[in-house]
Amino acid sequence: MMDATKTDAWATLSDLFEVFSPDLRGWFEADPGRAAEFTRSAGDLHVDLSKNLVNHAIVDALCGLADQVGLAEHRDAMLRGDHINVTEDRAVLHTALRRPRGQVLEVDGRDVVADVHEVLDRVYAFADQVRSGAWKGVTGKPIATVVNIGIGGSDLGPAMVYEALLPYKQAGLECRFVSNIDPSDIYEKTADLDPETTLFIVASKTFTTLETITNARLARDWLLRGLADAGAIEGSDAAQASAIARHFVAVSTALDKVAAFGIDPANAFGFWDWVGGRYSVDSAVGTAIAVAIGPQHFEEFLAGFHAIDDHFATAPWHENVPALMGLLNIWYVNFFGARSHAVLPYAQYLHRFPAYLQQLTMESNGKSVRADGTPVTTATGEVFWGEPGTNGQHAFYQLLHQGTQLIPADFIAVASPTKELRDGDQDVYELFLANFFAQSKALAFGKTADEVRADGVPEHLVSAKVFTGNRPSTSIMAPALTPSVVGQLIALYEHITFVEGVVWGINSFDQWGVELGKVLAKQITPALAGDDAALASLDPSTQGLIAYYQQHREG
Ligand code: F6P
Repeated sequence: MMDATKTDAWATLSDLFEVFSPDLRGWFEADPGRAAEFTRSAGDLHVDLSKNLVNHAIVDALCGLADQVGLAEHRDAMLRGDHINVTEDRAVLHTALRRPRGQVLEVDGRDVVADVHEVLDRVYAFADQVRSGAWKGVTGKPIATVVNIGIGGSDLGPAMVYEALLPYKQAGLECRFVSNIDPSDIYEKTADLDPETTLFIVASKTFTTLETITNARLARDWLLRGLADAGAIEGSDAAQASAIARHFVAVSTALDKVAAFGIDPANAFGFWDWVGGRYSVDSAVGTAIAVAIGPQHFEEFLAGFHAIDDHFATAPWHENVPALMGLLNIWYVNFFGARSHAVLPYAQYLHRFPAYLQQLTMESNGKSVRADGTPVTTATGEVFWGEPGTNGQHAFYQLLHQGTQLIPADFIAVASPTKELRDGDQDVYELFLANFFAQSKALAFGKTADEVRADGVPEHLVSAKVFTGNRPSTSIMAPALTPSVVGQLIALYEHITFVEGVVWGINSFDQWGVELGKVLAKQITPALAGDDAALASLDPSTQGLIAYYQQHREG
């Protein structure tokens, strides 16, 4: 991979940054066409980039950087299934998950699109059965609650999309999501459920993840105990096996391990090692979503991803929204020294979107070595975070508006509300969206000391009430929060993440940084259970913390 910092475009950007003096107020005054000049569309997404700290020369240089690091070649290599995940020697083909039926993509000798649709058809048939009530629990009752057990990519995507598309959910059918190995998670999520009407989806790419397998075992015990207590099944192995067959399905790439757990292979939905966990919501990992919203809406969801894939694959850089947004992030991280990025959905249904993006972006791009193992040559990664508007306004926006850090922000809103409510004559959605429009305006244009004085503010308070402005943001709008738009938003950020990874020269598709903690937790577990030798092998700080735990644990 080309070292971006050695390119002519990087040198140009450095020169431009040296003499750069952001002036959003002045730029908008001087050029009334600025909003139109810097607004783009991708699929149904209307993306206003004009309140970013760039001019045309900078955008040109950023697009030049894309060319000089070979972004098009890397993108095409991903799309055709080259093994770009070099540390795991795997293709990276989440884009194949949403290719339309009938397209052909041969990778390592197989048509992966045909494989994708074969699994999708099984997921849809299963979803239809659960939705219609044809899928019955072991005592003959239809399913009322689907509990997805998974963590990371096997949880965050389904949980986020389920919340985002709640208005599309079938009435009378609820999904819940258990992820944490903290036993309170599964305890609380199952406490009020009836085992006879509960179905578990165990979602794990590897089917070895400690949290998920432990929770799946707890769920199995809960189910069998609950059914036995209710006198619904006998205690024989055969009775238990048939209960598990009616109340457990699995999603995994490791179908042998699914069978070893006791889940009928007929009730398992596969996917492939070329789907990264954090890129898997549109695979069978989305089975809970398909059950909740139905196959037709799930198809629309996939079509949304595909629309953005097509745009990313074909639009020239100056028009290419994921490329431009990724390149802007490079500009802020590597030239302005920005370290974090706020994502602020003005849509309560998207309240888990920032959490979802944390895994997508940070597990992908939190890397210190390049794809070839050499140290990175520049800062990488951004801390993505956020909360829905307007909640965030009353919590952390103070720092966005007047703090000392530059934090680029993405504002997201849709034109048509899913739920319309009026407060007397007032359309409440308009009250809400006025905030969406106001916040990026305040960040960009601020309020000068003279404007503060003109409000009659006493001189000793003027500086505290000044807003500097020139705080960058991108505003993303769509017609409505449909399944397609949710798919489009996810694909947009997947490709933004990819663009940044290519410029930084890293492999965005491995996650070795999560391994050490897992290994250490395994080593420490015996120490908690009283193994003195295991305890003695630990460092004094960890020993001290364990001593505190042992002294204070009740029961
Ligand atoms: O430990 C990190 C991770 O591997 C994520 O990348 C992944 O999404 C998550 O764990 C869950 O993994 P699995 O789906 O294999 O259970």
